[in-house]
Amino acid sequence: MGGLSKKAYQFTKLIKSSNRPSLILDGGSLLFKSNSVQNKLANQSEITAKGIIKAYNLIGYDAVGVSRRDLAAGLDFLLKIKEKSKFTWLSANIINKSNGHSLFKPTISRNIGDIKVGVVGLTNQLPANSKLLDKDTEIKPWRDALPAIINELTRDHDFIILLTSLSAGECRKIAEVYPGINLIIHAKDSDVGQLPINLTETTTMVGTGKKGKYIGMMDIKWYPGSTWQAANHELLTTKRRERDRLNRQLALLKDRPGRNNYQKVQSRLITIENTIEKMELAREPSAKNAALKSSYKNRFIAMGKSMPDHAAVLEVVKETKRLINRLNSKPTITAQNSTLTNKGFTGWQTCRKCHSDQANNWQKSRHASSFQTLIKKNQQFNSDCLPCHVTRFDKRDPATAIGMPSDLQMVGCENCHGPGASHSANPISHKTTPVTAKTCLNCHIPDHDESFNFVRDLKKLNCIL
Ligand code: HEC
Ligand code: HEC
Ligand code: HEC
Ligand code: HEC
Repeated sequence: MGGLSKKAYQFTKLIKSSNRPSLILDGGSLLFKSNSVQNKLANQSEITAKGIIKAYNLIGYDAVGVSRRDLAAGLDFLLKIKEKSKFTWLSANIINKSNGHSLFKPTISRNIGDIKVGVVGLTNQLPANSKLLDKDTEIKPWRDALPAIINELTRDHDFIILLTSLSAGECRKIAEVYPGINLIIHAKDSDVGQLPINLTETTTMVGTGKKGKYIGMMDIKWYPGSTWQAANHELLTTKRRERDRLNRQLALLKDRPGRNNYQKVQSRLITIENTIEKMELAREPSAKNAALKSSYKNRFIAMGKSMPDHAAVLEVVKETKRLINRLNSKPTITAQNSTLTNKGFTGWQTCRKCHSDQANNWQKSRHASSFQTLIKKNQQFNSDCLPCHVTRFDKRDPATAIGMPSDLQMVGCENCHGPGASHSANPISHKTTPVTAKTCLNCHIPDHDESFNFVRDLKKLNCIL
């Protein structure tokens, strides 16, 4: 959540400088790093999630889509969090089975200037065996949940936005069936946003990356009843290409004996002809503004370490980190890792016995004091920080980094050379792991080191004498 104060600063600045009415939306996946929360980190994850909500409240979000990942700590937790949110959590397809009602608001309406905007949310499916929902709740497929809602929205709204974490493929299908949706904000699982593409004449899709590394700003000029300007009509073009391909295939099959494929190709061709026809019909804009073209400008702004912070949000981030450190400093949590046993690590003191020159150089480096750095920041128990600031590096199980023995409380020899217990016992038959740029990039990622350069920074290590 470190980037939130920078994101907040940028939003405030953008909104002030554009002095036009705006909506702040998020496709979803904001609360957790993965689809399920590790038991050991349940409390820490919940503290972080609450901090994120406070920050979003301060930024002034209008609405956020509920994604499957936001359910990682269970439905009850999200429903509690919802009560603390000043923005609306949107999902049209999380349904109570017995009464058919939505557990979240399916839509919101906003007047933006003289345009009436409707926003709808759709949640992606959980795996079949998931225990995150209770027995009474289900996530309905969009084909069941959308028809009634879109019908109602199109009746009295000029512009419709869908917030969703469904796959890009699903979004394309939705655009095909519902030309009334004008913008799909798709919460992607990768870091980077995805430039807008016009799926159809009336539907554009834009992808927002995870972890808030970018903020996206779309400046939209919309004439109700019009179509997007200079649309590349991606869907229609691919469908037409597919039709041409099937036609050629069909022609070939005609001239050949044993044409058992003929029927299959023919029926696919019929389906695709129907889709194209529907899409071409949908292209006929409604009477008003039919000749006008609407347009947008899109911008992604990357959040960097050197950007200014929003003061109040920064305070929320700091308070959250303080709470986490206090939580994880409990002896019950720190005791579990405090022995130097598993995974073949031995600690730098053992290496020093045979490689004193390297050890002396290393001791002067910042790697050697990386844990002291966390102590100074009062973050020495935070599993969001520890994996890169201690020796036993395990990103998949960050809780193991809490309360480690003092010989591993640093970026030590074994971060780069691999676990070295067996090498230390028998250096000739057990070689260490070769060091590559990838080794460094486990930690020196842009979020934490904007200017890492392997060749240049390697020289600073002084390990090769
Ligand atoms: C008992 C003495 C001893 C200890 C303890 C020891 N090494 Fe070594 N190390 C050696 C010797 C001897 C070689 C040279 C091996 C060769 O040339 O085949 C070596 C070679 C290396 C090399 C060169 C590449 C390789 O694997 O041959 C690296 C890197 C290295 N050690 C790192 C470490 C690290 C890190 C530790 C602590 C985890 C460590 N060593 C502990 C004796 C030791
Ligand atoms: C386990 C995580 C980790 C790995 C792997 C790692 N580093 Fe670091 N590195 C750090 C941390 C954390 C710091 C900052 C420590 C501090 O200041 O408290 C750092 C600091 C540095 C610095 C000092 C920065 C400066 O400008 O003085 C250099 C240089 C560096 N690393 C180079 C490398 C290289 C080269 C590699 C790969 C061969 C590497 N690091 C691998 C975590 C790592
Ligand atoms: C993905 C690995 C990674 C994580 C996670 C990480 N750090 Fe670091 N940290 C680094 C690296 C690499 C450097 C060295 C950067 C440089 O020299 O430019 C560093 C440097 C630092 C520094 C000294 C330089 C500075 O920017 O002031 C501090 C303080 C620091 N980290 C604190 C933290 C805290 C607090 C957390 C958790 C909230 C954390 N780090 C999480 C990799 C990480
Ligand atoms: C940040 C990463 C990093 C850390 C930490 C580190 N090394 Fe190295 N070390 C390297 C790299 C890179 C080389 C160059 C050889 C290679 O590519 O394997 C190297 C080389 C060596 C060599 C072989 C030297 C030679 O002349 O061939 C030894 C021995 C060694 N390191 C021991 C240590 C010991 C002991 C420590 C801890 C006190 C340590 N290293 C900490 C990255 C590191």
